[in-house]
Amino acid sequence: MLLLLVLLLLTFSFWEIFLFYRRRASLPPGPFAVPILGNFINEIKPPYLHVAFKRLSARFGPVFTVHLPYPVVNISDFETIRDTFRSNDVAGRMQNVLFETTRQIENGGIVASNGDDWLEQRRFTIATLRDFGMGKNLMEEKVRLSAKNMADFIKEKDLGNVDLRWSIQVFVSNIINEFLFGFQYPYDDCSKLMNFVLGFNEAIEGISKSRVVPLIFMLPWTRRLPIISHIWEHHKNRIQNMVNYVREQATAVKYDPSEEPTCYVQAFHKNNKDKRFEQLVACCTDMFTAGQETTTTTLRWAMLFLAAHQDVQDKLRAEILSHIGKDRIASMADKAKMPYASAVVNEIQRCANIVAPNPILLHRSTVNTEIGGFKVPADTLVNGDIHQMMKSDPVFDDPNRFWPERYIAEDGVTLRKEVVERTIPFGIGKRQCAGEGLARTELFIGLITLIQNFRILPLPGSTIDLEPAYTNIHFPKPHNFRLERV
Ligand code: HEM
Repeated sequence: MLLLLVLLLLTFSFWEIFLFYRRRASLPPGPFAVPILGNFINEIKPPYLHVAFKRLSARFGPVFTVHLPYPVVNISDFETIRDTFRSNDVAGRMQNVLFETTRQIENGGIVASNGDDWLEQRRFTIATLRDFGMGKNLMEEKVRLSAKNMADFIKEKDLGNVDLRWSIQVFVSNIINEFLFGFQYPYDDCSKLMNFVLGFNEAIEGISKSRVVPLIFMLPWTRRLPIISHIWEHHKNRIQNMVNYVREQATAVKYDPSEEPTCYVQAFHKNNKDKRFEQLVACCTDMFTAGQETTTTTLRWAMLFLAAHQDVQDKLRAEILSHIGKDRIASMADKAKMPYASAVVNEIQRCANIVAPNPILLHRSTVNTEIGGFKVPADTLVNGDIHQMMKSDPVFDDPNRFWPERYIAEDGVTLRKEVVERTIPFGIGKRQCAGEGLARTELFIGLITLIQNFRILPLPGSTIDLEPAYTNIHFPKPHNFRLERV
């Protein structure tokens, strides 16, 4: 009996190994990998995926396969990312066991869903963002008001030694909070929001550094094994706490069908074809998580880059004061007349480069297709490595230098189209960021308001550390500044 069991186990193992290498042979070239551990044995050390991807693309070219431990086709050049992601063939996401077990409906939300459900919720959300105003300026007004509140709040602080993190966080979070749930947190009473944000940061860090979560993504049954199940529960509970927070907020929103919706939850009840409450919770969770940490992190990087480059800060402020003056709050109509500000925002996003290779944002081929001349079968994961692309594309001379002038043409006023079009922090194509319009408004108005009101300086005797804390999002390290009122 024992012999039979051993034989069965051996046959099963050989069969799995055969399938692994047969699948491997059907994919673009890449480093040697083994079943179960993939390239974690030789090439990859979480969370430094971006370092390994850079090394591997120098070795194998812009399209290669890496095992995390599931196979992923990585693309690092602009043209191939653009052409691949504009096609419907690679608009899927992976079956994500983390979301499947923390959500109470199948294929819910936007970020991780697939097929018709994804398309319907993505379209509804973008249309609702538009209806509430990117076109009619209502959202922009909320951003302007929130920016003014942020500046007024900072003015009350001890400007000699300021931590700007929570001021920026509340500015950004309040905008998405008001859009989704119809209310803002006062600056002096937002501990609930801060707890959510800290929990979210811990969840991202935990997942980015874990070697167990990728294994569970590939072989979901392993989450029931001893020890692994314990680690899994820990990660799952963190995500579940975030979903519970959002569910609580969505439940508290009052809805009267006879009145015009004033927030996303009411618009969902009134206009969404899918009436399931848990679909609403899943969409709100995606918008709330995707919509605040990214923009906050970018603005925090902005403070660091501008504190480290006083010449850029002075030039930006000069443009602000000449076009907007000292007191008026910026609006998006100012942007067209402020090429240097546009260049600075682009360069901040390029250099901050916050979205590192990230399992949740991997795409999936839904049919047999071709990428960069290689055949790629259906159901293969694909990473458009925008992180590496924005650091290595030849259009960015001296790519590690923070230098907004790279975006300005010789006439001094026009933006260089070929450089702007390769700056793709929001991704590109069918899965391109659903909140890009709102994020661009927040970044522009938030940055202009801060620089219009304050000179951002390093603390006396300190230097600015531009090395990120490495997770799936590249966060800046905590930093205090000295501020001067302008
Ligand atoms: C600076 C700020 C932001 C950056 C850098 C950013 C970046 C990204 C990136 C790189 C993706 C993945 C694209 C892909 O899979 O190819 C994404 C997806 C997404 N983002 Fe953003 N984002 C930002 C702000 C926002 C905001 C403010 C919202 C909501 C209001 C938002 C909502 C989403 C959603 C829902 C998706 C999933 C889209 C889909 O799968 O169809 N993001 N974002």
